Amino acid sequence: MDPLLEVSLRWAHVLAGICWIGLLYFFNFVNVPFQGTIDPATKKVVNPQMLSRALWWFRWAAMLTMLIGLYLFIALYMKKPEDGGLMREVGKEGLSQRANSIMIAMTLALVMWFNVWFIIWPNQKKIIAGMLSGNAAPPECAKRALMASRFNCYSSGPMLFLMIAAPHGGGLDLTGHVVAFVVPLLVIHLAIKASGGVGKPV
Ligand code: HEM
Repeated sequence: MDPLLEVSLRWAHVLAGICWIGLLYFFNFVNVPFQGTIDPATKKVVNPQMLSRALWWFRWAAMLTMLIGLYLFIALYMKKPEDGGLMREVGKEGLSQRANSIMIAMTLALVMWFNVWFIIWPNQKKIIAGMLSGNAAPPECAKRALMASRFNCYSSGPMLFLMIAAPHGGGLDLTGHVVAFVVPLLVIHLAIKASGGVGKPV
């Protein structure tokens, strides 16, 4: 691939990824505790306006991140090793460490993308429509959306660790993969636990 095109695609992929995951963290670290502090009348005024806008950026950023990511994968990995493909190393059997790391990262990211489009957004749409019409959506909608959002929040830690590990240093060995799961999951867990208590107005 032309180097300038590759850098441009990597830049667009990371920019869209920041928009997606940044909003995911806003929902999990800020909005979940915030919703617990406002009354139903305020929710009715604030949420349709705020959530509709945030969810638009959230789902389309997820779509762009995923499409560019898949393109990068096909362009960089799906060629013969002799032609520069990264799936295997020249003259060696089995997947390269880099391919192992990126494929685990991509599996997590693709499940996250699925959750955004097929669980979080459809359920949030029902919740917002319910607020606007006055016929509240069934409570399962909020539960499902929250569970998928929490799953994505936790997954984002190892996903990003491995997504970065693939191109920087050529992926991780087995110990590296264990660290890639344990440390980021712990960090995200601590952030979720802290989110109810930090940053309150004085
Ligand atoms: C949704 C599905 C996704 C797919 C299919 C995907 C795929 C890829 C691929 C193929 C690469 C290149 C790896 C290499 O050069 O070995 C990459 C790099 C990267 N991705 Fe993703 N990705 C996805 C989601 C995300 C998300 C949500 C983020 C969050 C910010 C992200 C951040 C990154 C970063 C930081 C890099 C490294 C860029 C670099 O240093 O050049 N990706 N991704």
